[in-house]
Amino acid sequence: MNQLYMISFSPTGTNRRVAEGIAEAFSNEKTVVDLCEETVGEMQIGKEDICIFSAPCYGGRIPQTAAERLSHIHGEQTPAIVLITFGNRAFEDALLELADSVEKNGFRVIAGCAVSAEHNIMHIFGQGRPDSLDWKEIRRFSNAAAEKINAGETERPLLPGSRPYKERHGGKPPILVNEKTCVKCGLCAQKCPVKAISPDGRHLKDELCIACMRCNQLCPQNSRSIPKTYVEGLIQRLGDACRERKRNEFYL
Ligand SMILES: Cc1cc2nc3c(=O)[nH]c(=O)nc-3n(C[C@H](O)[C@H](O)[C@H](O)COP(=O)(O)O)c2cc1C
Repeated sequence: MNQLYMISFSPTGTNRRVAEGIAEAFSNEKTVVDLCEETVGEMQIGKEDICIFSAPCYGGRIPQTAAERLSHIHGEQTPAIVLITFGNRAFEDALLELADSVEKNGFRVIAGCAVSAEHNIMHIFGQGRPDSLDWKEIRRFSNAAAEKINAGETERPLLPGSRPYKERHGGKPPILVNEKTCVKCGLCAQKCPVKAISPDGRHLKDELCIACMRCNQLCPQNSRSIPKTYVEGLIQRLGDACRERKRNEFYL
């Protein structure tokens, strides 16, 4: 049977989790392609296969690293579903950019969605999402997308966003390491998607770091963090745009 490829750049796991939820609507054999691994090289995916592409929204765009790694994955007019998760602020041009990137490489976007989730820097926003209400909507969407693919329909839905895409902003939070609790296990260095951390976890190459929050999330000692004052400042600046529950958006 043809494969269902789940191709995700998901440093803290949210969009991958939603992609797995969407994949449940399909009975195809599943293959996971993890774009957080630097080793993913050139890939060709057949026209009878199906792809789910997913990425987080960073400043209204898809992360540059995701865009670069996606450019190595080629389709043969392969049907694709695109998914963005965002931290209950806004996703702006991210869904459109993801769809355009994969179409440029030979995929046919037949469905897309933007799912509001817990913000992985300002955790008070979108806390606990996706929740049961979100999952109900995601299931309805994925069933409809599967029906569309099974019916051989290939029309691209109209997606929100504008071109040229929003400019990427350079601002990112500093990552602190608590040297008293860090045991130099090196897990953060191993799992860093852009190899910005020294093998002992103590040094960060700031020019490589994309502030994806993966190292903070996975440290077994909780030794990595963003300064509290930085998060508070961000909440002050962006809070008004993040407080209200944002709806998910589905396009078929
Ligand atoms: C550097 C950075 C920038 C972000 N920018 C936005 C944004 O513009 N809008 C938004 O709603 N959430 C934003 N977020 C939150 C993430 O999009 C959200 O937590 C996402 O679900 C993370 O996906 P992942 O768990 O698959 O990595 C940002 C997070 C990071 C780390």
